[in-house]
Amino acid sequence: EELEHEARFQARVDAEERIEANDWMPAAYRKTLVRQISQHAHSEIIGMLPEGNWITRAPSLRRKAALLAKVQDECGHGLYLYAAAETLGVSREELTDQLLTGKAKYSSIFNYPTMSWADIGAIGWLVDGAAIMNQIPLCRCSYGPYARAMIRVCKEESFHQRQGYEIMLTLCRGSEEQKAMAQDALNRWWWPCLMMFGPPDAASQHSDQSTKWKIKRFSNDELRQKFVDATVPQAQFLGLTLPDPELRFVPDEGGDGTTGHWHYGQIDWDEFKQVIAGNGPCNRDRLAARNKAHAEGEWVREAAMAHAAKRQARQQA
Ligand code: ACO
Repeated sequence: EELEHEARFQARVDAEERIEANDWMPAAYRKTLVRQISQHAHSEIIGMLPEGNWITRAPSLRRKAALLAKVQDECGHGLYLYAAAETLGVSREELTDQLLTGKAKYSSIFNYPTMSWADIGAIGWLVDGAAIMNQIPLCRCSYGPYARAMIRVCKEESFHQRQGYEIMLTLCRGSEEQKAMAQDALNRWWWPCLMMFGPPDAASQHSDQSTKWKIKRFSNDELRQKFVDATVPQAQFLGLTLPDPELRFVPDEGGDGTTGHWHYGQIDWDEFKQVIAGNGPCNRDRLAARNKAHAEGEWVREAAMAHAAKRQARQQA
């Protein structure tokens, strides 16, 4: 009977039907979604920290307002994603606990420091650009609640990407020092951004199954290549140099010459593994900051519980 359920489930996925929270689903499908959606939620929450670092030092009121809005959007993304994960039967408390104790993964990219204002531009342009590349296909993910959450997330990410690129453009059209800051930020963020897409396909343990279930629509390497192809002309427009001596355009020999790709150099996968293992430049700071915020929010949770208990008592009276 289990096999029959599985076959019917796969047929629905193959027919591009959305799977909803109360539908039958294989235990492993549920598990992989909880894993991916919760990692994604944690990434949004931890992702507020590197940029939050610059809210008080934004160079103008306009920049401050945009950065504040962006960081708030990320908090919202985390909340929709935790809510989507909860539809699969896990609790928010459990997921939060996994993050705070260091058991859960979140995106490697948020373990790098934001050293200058130009980093805020580079993050918007590159990190949010990479996030969009990865998340647009997730709008068609087989799991309905995740796919629907992604639609709004992607709209907001595209605003984030534009504000980042506009910061870079302003710096690149500014003084020599400003342009040098932009180049320095690009040098530091480029390779970690390529790592965001995950290990190379041959080393991606979840890809085959997630593709079959239509959670993933493109492989890690396919999305990485799309990102490089989209980003190289943007860097050229800024007048910046990507920190990769091997970068070169390879035309599509068989095609009409319009479908070539930018070949890029070797990614340092040891660095990626170190960051994921908790040894990146900021892993410890990030977890310490989250734990401190959680402890300082204790009174809010207590007050909310007390308020709910009082209301319930009043309703029963
Ligand atoms: N940072 C940290 N861990 C990563 C990263 C990364 N950049 N890329 C892959 N991993 C982890 C995976 O989570 C997995 O670990 P696990 O088995 O302990 O869960 C392991 O490396 C192997 O990778 P894959 O088999 O390729 O994993 P998966 O099929 O889940 O693909 C990917 C990884 C592409 C990140 C996928 O999970 C995904 O699309 N997630 C949703 C998007 C997301 O989380 N974005 C967060 C950053 S963007 C932002 O928040 C602004």
